[in-house]
Amino acid sequence: MLVQKYKDMLSGKSVIRQLSEFAAQRGQEIGYENVFDYSLGNPSVPAPEEFTEVMIRMLKEREPRELHGYSPNPGIAHVRDAVAASLEKRFGIPYRREHIFMASGAAGALAHAFRLVTEPGDEILTFAPFFPEYHPYVDLTGAVLKVVPPDCEAFQINFNRFEEMLTPKVMAVLVNTPNNPSGVVYSEETLQRLGEILREKSAEYGHTIYLISDEPYREIVFDGAEAPCVSRFYNNTIMCYSFSKSLSLPGERIGYVAVHPECDGAEYMVPMCVQISRGTGHNCPPSIIQLAVAQVLDLTSDTSVYETNRSLLYNELTDLGFTCVKPGGTFYIFPRALEEDANVFCKKALKYDLVLVPGDTFGAPGFFRMAYCIDTEKVERSLPALRRFVEEEYKGRD
Ligand SMILES: Cc1ncc(COP(=O)(O)O)c(C=O)c1O
Repeated sequence: MLVQKYKDMLSGKSVIRQLSEFAAQRGQEIGYENVFDYSLGNPSVPAPEEFTEVMIRMLKEREPRELHGYSPNPGIAHVRDAVAASLEKRFGIPYRREHIFMASGAAGALAHAFRLVTEPGDEILTFAPFFPEYHPYVDLTGAVLKVVPPDCEAFQINFNRFEEMLTPKVMAVLVNTPNNPSGVVYSEETLQRLGEILREKSAEYGHTIYLISDEPYREIVFDGAEAPCVSRFYNNTIMCYSFSKSLSLPGERIGYVAVHPECDGAEYMVPMCVQISRGTGHNCPPSIIQLAVAQVLDLTSDTSVYETNRSLLYNELTDLGFTCVKPGGTFYIFPRALEEDANVFCKKALKYDLVLVPGDTFGAPGFFRMAYCIDTEKVERSLPALRRFVEEEYKGRD
C-alpha cells in the first residue's frame, strides 16, 4: 500500500518550484532572457576559480579510491579538522574534529540536527518569515514545526509572541540568519536576547532547549559587515552550514553540522549523527567534494553581484513607493505588496513577465520575495517592467 502521508504531500507542491517551472515554460514562448524570473535561490555566480583548480588538480594527481571511495561516516578526518580550525579562527570557539559532522548541504545537516534533539510530537519553533522547506524537513521527523509570527517592521524576532509560544513542549528553536526570504541579518542585540530567554526557559523547564542555526548565507553579507555568529550567544547551539550558496555549489550537496563544544551532550552528538545517517540515507557525502571544499574553506564566490543587484532593486522599489527592509545579506528582498493579498499581486505581476513569490509561503502574508541571484543586466532590464506594472495596476492608489 502506498504511504498516505507522502501521497498527501503531492497536493502541497512548493510554490517556489511551481513559479520557477512557470518561468521556464514562459521562457520557451518568449525566450528565457525576457522572463524576469525572481523565483528560485539558485546562485548565479560561478564557484571561485580556486575551487575549479583544486578539482582539476585532484582529478589528475590523486588516487581514484581517495577521490571516489566511501568516506568515513562522520566525514573525512582531516576535512573535519580543517573545518574546526577555520571556525575556531573565525569565531573564537574551540571546535575540534569531534564536533564536526560532514553532511549533504544544509538540508542534510538540518535532518540530523532535528533528529538529535527531538522525539516525535516535540515542538520546534521557528520565526516567520521562514524557508518553507522547513515544513517537510521537520514534519517527516514526527516533530511539530510551530511558527512565531513576524516582526513586520524590521524582520528581527517578535519576542512577545516568541515568549508566549515557548512552552515546555519546545525542544528546539530554529533560526536562519542571514535570512531567506527577508535578507535580514539578526543583530547582536537580537541574538543576545534570544540566548538569555533560552537559558532562562531551559532552567525553568528543567530541560535544554537547543538552538539550531541554519547558516547557508553566513558569508553573503553586504556593506562590509559580518553576520554575528549565532553560536557565540548560546552554548547549546547546533550550527548547520552549507557550501551551496557561499561557494555556489548547491548541486554538490555538501555542508556540515558543527556542535558547540560546550553544548549539553556534545560528546554524543557527532556519533549520534552517524547513527542517524544510517537511517536517513544522508550518509557519506562525496569524498571528492569534501576534499575540495577543505582547501577553499575561507573563500567565497564573488558575491558583489548580489550586493549590486540588492542596491538596484532596493532603490527602485522604494522609489516606486514600496515599503521594504533593506537586506543586509543573502540574495533575497522581501517588500510589502501593493495590495493586501500578495497572491493576487504576484499573479498580476506575471502579466509583465515578473515572476515574484507571494509571502504566504514564508509565513508572512502581504509580502513577496524576489530572489535576485540573476545577472545584473537582467535586473536592469526588469526595472522598466516593474515600473510599468506598478503604474498600470496601482495608479491612483493612496
Ligand atoms: C534558509 C535555507 N536553509 C536551507 C537550505 C537548503 O540548503 P542546501 O541546498 O544546502 O541543502 C536553503 C536553500 O535554499 C535555504 O535557503
